[in-house]
Amino acid sequence: MPDVYTDSEDEVIINQVLSPSGFDTNKHPKYLVLRLALARSLRIASHPDEEFDFPKSKGSNYSLEQVTGKGRANDDAGLLDFDDAIISLLSVYHEIDLFSDQKQYEKLLQRHIRRGLREIRTSWSTSHDFIAFLQEELFAGIKENSSESSKSKLGTEQLQKALLEIGVQAEIKEKIQGARIDRYNIFLPQVSHFDSLRRGLDKLAFSLGLGNEGIFIQPTEEPKVIGLDIPRKRQFWQSIDGSRLFSWAEEIKKQAGLPVWLGQDVLGRDFSFDLAEAPHLLIAGTTGSGKSITLHALILSLLQGRSPGDIKIAFIDPKLVELSRYQGIPQQYGDCVAHLVTEAMQMLQELIAEMEHRNELLEKVGASNLSEAASNGRLNLPKIVVVIEELADLFSQSRELEAPLVRLAQKARSVGIHLVLATQRPDAVTFSGLLRSNIPGRIALRVQKGSESQIILDETGAEKLLGAGDMLVKVATNSPVRIHGAYITQDDIKKSIRYAKERG
Ligand SMILES: Nc1ncnc2c1ncn2[C@@H]1O[C@H](COP(=O)(O)OP(=O)(O)OP(=O)(O)O)[C@@H](O)[C@H]1O
Ligand SMILES: [Mg+2]
Repeated sequence: MPDVYTDSEDEVIINQVLSPSGFDTNKHPKYLVLRLALARSLRIASHPDEEFDFPKSKGSNYSLEQVTGKGRANDDAGLLDFDDAIISLLSVYHEIDLFSDQKQYEKLLQRHIRRGLREIRTSWSTSHDFIAFLQEELFAGIKENSSESSKSKLGTEQLQKALLEIGVQAEIKEKIQGARIDRYNIFLPQVSHFDSLRRGLDKLAFSLGLGNEGIFIQPTEEPKVIGLDIPRKRQFWQSIDGSRLFSWAEEIKKQAGLPVWLGQDVLGRDFSFDLAEAPHLLIAGTTGSGKSITLHALILSLLQGRSPGDIKIAFIDPKLVELSRYQGIPQQYGDCVAHLVTEAMQMLQELIAEMEHRNELLEKVGASNLSEAASNGRLNLPKIVVVIEELADLFSQSRELEAPLVRLAQKARSVGIHLVLATQRPDAVTFSGLLRSNIPGRIALRVQKGSESQIILDETGAEKLLGAGDMLVKVATNSPVRIHGAYITQDDIKKSIRYAKERG
């Protein structure tokens, strides 16, 4: 008797996980993916709802024997039947006794598995490392096993030794734990060692076995003391929970401008900035570095508590994956998520017309910009944010899109229109001179080469980031701030979209 049903979309992702771009082996049975999906769903605090009860298209079905090992004989090799364990887990999670209600148990199991499959489908793409993805999805933030972590953690003696190897004598004063890095504040008795430290950072990283991940230095206000941010191994990272965005939005309610929350700085303090001040933004990083999740954090920040009268978002997404989810929200600019070049062109031209129209209105009311006009109570127009997912893709199809973008970048700020451009290819062709000089806000996620970091930030550094939402943000101030991006889940996105639609 089948107990868990899937639909055709679920089956596609199950097969992808088992293909060479996922586990890279076809030795595993399909129900293994269902187990992973269950684990993924159980990491989400809210309960899965009835949308997962009835598969919309024909998929497949699985028995409890496959999924939870029910009825399998346990042998010396290990526990094969863990059905009772799963019933216990779900009972605790849902705070009901599922041992006495088999039907309800199967229903909830199905909901969790299908929600987990949706999470995997929408947040993993076959071009990204599946094992790294699993680690992040299933294990991030789990309390460390102390004996194991102490073995793998960097000892102060080891650090001191490694510093000596690059000619730096240092006293370790303090260690502060961030979500992904440990900050060591070190005292350098001899000032000349400061140069050796700066020059020797790569060697130090090499000596500590950090692979491509780099050490960042952080000035302090104490004499002769400098901070070293040394990354921990991935299994000891703590995830930055995306649902924090909702409480952040509550806290900053009614703040003027367009505040957006991206995550936390390396020591765990919330990081947000005003997009209206930026006033335009480039987000760039290699594939899998976390651009799309950063875009979602930004979009969700803009949506919180704002009605269509406050904000409109124009979505342009040639890949038609990430942004099409926002189709139909009341805060959407125009009536489609632009996908084709022609649609994007039309949207940009409409935006230029809107910019010119707004300029005329401002002239009429005698104000120099939108916020001045709004504070006089003379003109109340929504701010518009134009989000482009994958700029390079668009340009490779038509270079003609550049001219209207440059025009908007040059002149749209005062009328409350802001650009957010994301790209996988931060090169001089995509981010050309005119765009560069008119888009001052920059976010660099991990890139492959120092030269790419130069293009985004005018300095190197982004090639040493950790990936997975680790970023250098350069807005308003001159020096970039290192931020660990929040992990926005599909549930966070769905929740915001549902709320936006309900409010209308
Ligand atoms: N803030 C984050 N915290 C933890 N993990 C993250 C974070 N951001 C991204 N990741 C991990 O990296 C994966 C890729 O993220 P994302 O899809 O945003 O990358 P991308 O830069 O848009 O990639 P592509 O260029 O291929 O579209 C995610 O599925 C997740 O596993
Ligand atoms: Mg992406």
